[in-house]
Amino acid sequence: MSTSLNLHDYQPNGDNTYHEVLAGLQRVPKKLPPKLFYDERGSQLFDQICELDEYYTTRTESHITQSNIDEIASVIGSQALLIEYGSGSSAKTRILLDHLTDLAAYIPLDISKEHLLTSATELAKVYPDLEILPVSADYTADFALPSVRKPVARRVVYFPGSTIGNFETEAAINFLDHIAAVCGPDGGLLIGVDLKKEPHILHQAYNDRDGVTAAFNLNMLARLNRDLDMNFAVDQFGHYAFYNVYEGRVEMHLVSLANQTVYLNGSTIEFAEGESIWTESSYKYTPNEFAALASRVGFEVQQVWIDEQHLFSVQYLTMTGKTIR
Ligand code: AVI
Repeated sequence: MSTSLNLHDYQPNGDNTYHEVLAGLQRVPKKLPPKLFYDERGSQLFDQICELDEYYTTRTESHITQSNIDEIASVIGSQALLIEYGSGSSAKTRILLDHLTDLAAYIPLDISKEHLLTSATELAKVYPDLEILPVSADYTADFALPSVRKPVARRVVYFPGSTIGNFETEAAINFLDHIAAVCGPDGGLLIGVDLKKEPHILHQAYNDRDGVTAAFNLNMLARLNRDLDMNFAVDQFGHYAFYNVYEGRVEMHLVSLANQTVYLNGSTIEFAEGESIWTESSYKYTPNEFAALASRVGFEVQQVWIDEQHLFSVQYLTMTGKTIR
C-alpha cells in the first residue's frame, strides 16, 4: 500500500476565530476556548508537557493502556474503524495499532493540520498495510468521515488524554452525544478520564517547575497577535493555575499584570491589573461521576482500567440506546 496521505480538510475559517475571540474577551469574566492553544508552537509545547515529571496523565494512561492491551483489543474486536479525536502526535495510538492488527482503517482527527500530517506520515511508514485517513477539523463542529476501503464491523471512537475534562458539563454531554452519533448503536468509545485526587498532585501537574505549562498558556496570546493581528504584551500577563475543589476542576488563567488595552480589528478591550482571561478548565471525575455523565446520552461503561495509584482511568463504553436528558 502506498504511504502518500490524502488530508481531509475541514478547518474553520479565520472569521469564526475572530468572532469567538471577540465574544470571549467581551464577556465577564473574560474567557477563551482551549482549542486556541493548539497552533504549531502550542502543539509542540503540549507534547513537552506530556513528557514532564509533574504531568502524570500521559505516562499513566500509556501504562494503563499497555498493561491492559489484550483486554482492550478484545473489547474493540476485529475490523473496527478506529477514529481518534484530537490525535496530536498519536503517541498512545501506537500501543493500540501494534495490537489491533485487523483494523478496517484508522482516522486521526486533529485541529492542528501540520502536526496531524507529520504524525500521520510517520504512522503510515510504520503501519504500511493500514489505511490512514487524516482529517483536519475542529471536532466539536460538523465534518464528514472519509470513506474506507475495507468493510467496517463497528466504529470505535478513541478519545485519550482526558480531553473530555476540558469541556464544561453541558458541553461534555453534548460532545458525548455527538460521539454516540458518530459511532452508532453498535459502536464503542475508548476514552481516557482523569480521576479526582489529592489537590497538590494536580497543582504540581499544572504548575511545572520548568514553566512549560506557563509557556503553553501564554502562547495563546502570541498566537492571537499573529493570527488576528492583536497587540497583547505577552510579558504583561502571568500564568495562574489552581484546583477548584468545589467544582472538581483545574482552572488555568492568564492574569493581567497591569492596566492595559488590547485592540481587535477596531474593538477595544480593557484589562484591569489582576483581571484574568480564563483559558481552560480541566474537570476531574470519580468513575461513578463519569459513568453517570455518559449514561445521560445512552453510553454504558463496559470496562474501566485504573492504575495502582488511582490517578487515571481508561474506559470502554458502548451504547444502551437509553438517554436521560
Ligand atoms: C489536553 N488536556 C487534557 C490537557 C489537560 O490536562 O487538561 C491540557 C493541559 N493544560 C495544561 N496542561 C495540559
